[in-house]
Amino acid sequence: VFFPVPRCAPHSSWDVFSLLQGAPRTHLGGFFPFPALTAQYHRRFGKIFRMKLGAFDSVHIAGPCLLEALYRRESPCPQRLEIKPWKAYRDYRREGYGLLILEGKDWQRVRSAFQKKLMKPREVVKLDTTINEVLEDFMYRIDEICDHNGQMEDVYSEFNKWSFESICLVLYGKRFGLLQEDVEEESLNFIKAVKTMMATFGMMMVTPVELHKGLNTKVWQAHTKAWDEIFKTAKHSIDCRLQKHSANPQGDFLCDIYSGGHLSRKELYAAIAELQIAGVETTANSLLWALYNLSRNPHVQQKLFQEIQRVLGAQRSPSAESLGDMPYLKACLKESMRLSPSVPFTTRTIDTEMVLGNYVLPKGTVLMINSYALGCSEEYFRGWAEFRPERWLQRGSIHPFSHVPFGIGKRMCVGRRVAELQLHLALCWLIRKYRVVATDQEPVETLHSGILIPNRALPIAFRPRAGLCTLQDPPLGGLYQWEGEK
Ligand code: HEM
Repeated sequence: VFFPVPRCAPHSSWDVFSLLQGAPRTHLGGFFPFPALTAQYHRRFGKIFRMKLGAFDSVHIAGPCLLEALYRRESPCPQRLEIKPWKAYRDYRREGYGLLILEGKDWQRVRSAFQKKLMKPREVVKLDTTINEVLEDFMYRIDEICDHNGQMEDVYSEFNKWSFESICLVLYGKRFGLLQEDVEEESLNFIKAVKTMMATFGMMMVTPVELHKGLNTKVWQAHTKAWDEIFKTAKHSIDCRLQKHSANPQGDFLCDIYSGGHLSRKELYAAIAELQIAGVETTANSLLWALYNLSRNPHVQQKLFQEIQRVLGAQRSPSAESLGDMPYLKACLKESMRLSPSVPFTTRTIDTEMVLGNYVLPKGTVLMINSYALGCSEEYFRGWAEFRPERWLQRGSIHPFSHVPFGIGKRMCVGRRVAELQLHLALCWLIRKYRVVATDQEPVETLHSGILIPNRALPIAFRPRAGLCTLQDPPLGGLYQWEGEK
């Protein structure tokens, strides 16, 4: 029996688009403030409610006790909503599936091969030099492109370039040169292909992909061509990396995973391409939201700056080890991800009947796990609208299942630790060098395009701090110059 869960008012089928985790923007005429709306519904209907949008039926949950119950009852291979257009391409070209679309035993096997490297703190800390290399270049880039007020023309795209360059260096061991003035053609084609792939799959999530494929629609053609380009570059870069380290595979992050012998070359290609796609916009966007929150809370930023100065002193680059002495930095990121989670929802399709709260949910029910609604609930975060990192430093005051920006359980984000390392290091570099200021105090609303984005260009500027050295010459150019605050 499917006991009725409190139901919300129906919406147009338009909204289904925003609902699908990972679904991109465009095509249906823009973005929608879906997270804020569902947070309102949670206030009105409670921790659990059912929503029917056209043919799409789902149950929304946002209560730590419900998430914990779900976690305790999760199956060995939890499932998210299917991304059918991606599967259709892989089947069409006989390519493998990666972690975002794999299911069952195959997912478990590939996940466990990556988990050993990506989720173990003592493995992930080894990536700090790689991540710092790109951050150092990013600092030069910011100096170059900011105007006299410290503002960038397209802050969103610049931070995405950083994130793309950073995760590609981790995954492919290769620089794509996106932070340079003149970007090479191969890199431009690669980044364009990722954008096209993301911009075309949403349409095929709401209309049958088989139809697009059968009619060979423009959307299907563009999607296929984009994936072809992504796989071409990914395969070439991975092959080069494997060959380079063939004598000592255990010494290299990627070769070590492959040399374990648990996944085929085809699966490796697909898994790496998907890690890259999952890790670019999410990380860039989280960093931007953190900078925005710090710009609106200068007293927090000052406290963070003092912590960074105290720990790093004259040290040139922050290291993974130095982050261990920076609890306030970690609290700042958590607080920002509570108020502005880049991925506001994740989903589960339950594979067995389950009791959640007072309801029996049948097998096949789609659950929408709403981390945005959790973060702006007064019940779980007193004074939820305040940006107060201190709340994370009071032990035991926050229920662990009330903060799930990386999802929950066995299917939780496998890139979480890499993302956190990237973000912590990036905040160290940025806040040490710049005072990030708010250029206006008008409200910034949140919209949903698969990830949580601001409704306008973030009003922030980067002002070099007084008395700190700024690197005026290109990375290998040498001289440091002292500069006062602009
Ligand atoms: C701040 C940045 C990031 C955020 C907020 C984020 C968030 C998420 C969330 C919410 C999920 C769904 C988890 C679930 O269903 O329980 C997810 C899955 C995933 N993420 Fe991330 N992510 C981030 C960065 C990254 C990075 C850097 C990578 C790659 C290195 C990555 C790779 C993945 C993959 C492969 C999955 C699917 C895992 C699986 O199904 O086994 N993510 N992420």
